[in-house]
Amino acid sequence: MVAVHVLNGPNLNLLGTREPGTYGAVTLAGVEERLRRKAEAAGVELTFRQTNFEGELVTFIQQAGLAGAGVIINAGAYTHTSVALRDAIKGVDALAIEVHISNVHAREEFRHHSYMAPVCIGVICGFGVASYDLALDAIVPLLEKRAAKAA
Ligand code: DQA
Repeated sequence: MVAVHVLNGPNLNLLGTREPGTYGAVTLAGVEERLRRKAEAAGVELTFRQTNFEGELVTFIQQAGLAGAGVIINAGAYTHTSVALRDAIKGVDALAIEVHISNVHAREEFRHHSYMAPVCIGVICGFGVASYDLALDAIVPLLEKRAAKAA
C-alpha cells in the first residue's frame, strides 16, 4: 500500500474564513475529509497535517520522506521564502508535489517564485481545493511505479 503525507503550512488552518474570494469556503477539515474518501477508494494510506511553524514543516517533510511516503505540500507563504523546505525535500529525496489553492502566477509578483518547485516532481495551482485531489491523482501512480521498481 502506498502512503501519502499531505502537509499544510501557515494560515491554512484558517481556510473557510480566510480571504474566501481567493481561497473559497471549504475548511481544512473539509479538504481532509474529501482526500480521505479519495485515498480510501484508491487504497492509499493518508496522513494529513498542518502547522504554522516552518521548522515543524521541515520535520514533517523529513518524516514523510524517510518513511518512503509521497508528499503533497501546500507550504503557504513559506513556498516563496524557505530554503529550509527545499533542502528538506532534497535531503530526504522525497517524491513531492507542490500545491496551491489559488493561481499564484496570477497574483502578486512575490508569489511567482517558489524555492521548492525545482525539487518537486511538479506544481499544481489554481484549481481551488481540487488542486489537492489532482495532486493525489498524480502522485499515486508515481509511488506505485517507484515501489514496483524497488521490489
Ligand atoms: C497559497 C498561496 C500562497 O501564496 C499563500 O501565501 C498561501 C496559500 C495557496 O494555496 O494558494 O498561504 O499557498
